[in-house]
Amino acid sequence: MSIITKAVFPVAGLGTRFLPATKANPKEMLPVVDKPLIQYAVDEAVRAGIKELIFVTSSSKRAIEDHFDKNYELERELERKGKDDLLKLLRDVVPPDVTCIYIRQAEALGLGHAILCARSVVGNDPFAVLLADDLIDGERGGCLAQMVEQFQRLQASILGVEQVPIEDTSSYGIVELAGYDGRLARVQGIVEKPKAEDAPSDMAVVGRYILSPEIFSILAEVQPGKGGEIQLTDGIAKLMEKRAVYSYEFDGRRYDCGSKIGYLQATVDYALKHSELGEEFEAFLKGKLCRLQGDDQDT
Ligand code: UTP
Repeated sequence: MSIITKAVFPVAGLGTRFLPATKANPKEMLPVVDKPLIQYAVDEAVRAGIKELIFVTSSSKRAIEDHFDKNYELERELERKGKDDLLKLLRDVVPPDVTCIYIRQAEALGLGHAILCARSVVGNDPFAVLLADDLIDGERGGCLAQMVEQFQRLQASILGVEQVPIEDTSSYGIVELAGYDGRLARVQGIVEKPKAEDAPSDMAVVGRYILSPEIFSILAEVQPGKGGEIQLTDGIAKLMEKRAVYSYEFDGRRYDCGSKIGYLQATVDYALKHSELGEEFEAFLKGKLCRLQGDDQDT
């Protein structure tokens, strides 16, 4: 019986949809209220029992390493000022029993290639992949914890999926499913970014995966696909020829924070739930809504 203790965070993408904000700052460091996206993904992984965090980074993503490193100067200053709550916040960024490992992807050759870069660290164990720009507010310990629970039973690769509007299939890997068992199904086929008319379903793969280590030897052979990139989707399609692959419709809400509208929606929802800001922000939004409705009636 394998258990999942390693998670790969591919964070070497260019983030072109968020330029110019992402020219010098990693997309994954964009904050939703007061926490960077990558920290939400790490927190979710830690809640699911992950002990090794493997970041696939690039030269422009140093801020991510700094974020998870100790900042002695800041800690000393907070200690001196007696700001214990802030000190705790900093020290909780990574729990003491969790290790961070960084690997460089020299060129953004695609998600499949980024995952292949982690091969020597992951070795022969099944592992999780989390794409931090998919922020998931998941029930029951989070999306990855739900998938790990399924893995314990199935001991097979699992893809996090959700239903999307049919006109949006060209933005996702789309799966063809069979043999539904509640939220779980068997993946029969997978296509990268099909047009609505060619899509096998409206079930999209989102940024959470549990993968068998066999994916590495497959990815090493995969040729550039859609957009000239080494696509993880193409690797999974090959993996399915050898092994069962499952999909899991997680319980929770996903925000596509790689897009501006998804990022704004996440910011509003997380601000409304924030323990310090929630009430004040809600009052602000209600006032704003009243003014907007008033404007509508005037026109
Ligand atoms: P995206 O498709 O969102 O690409 O990658 P991107 O470059 O980050 O953003 P846009 O589309 O240009 O705005 C999905 C995930 O795969 C990682 C990204 O960092 C993101 O987490 N990725 C993508 C890599 O690590 N390396 C790559 O070569 C490509």
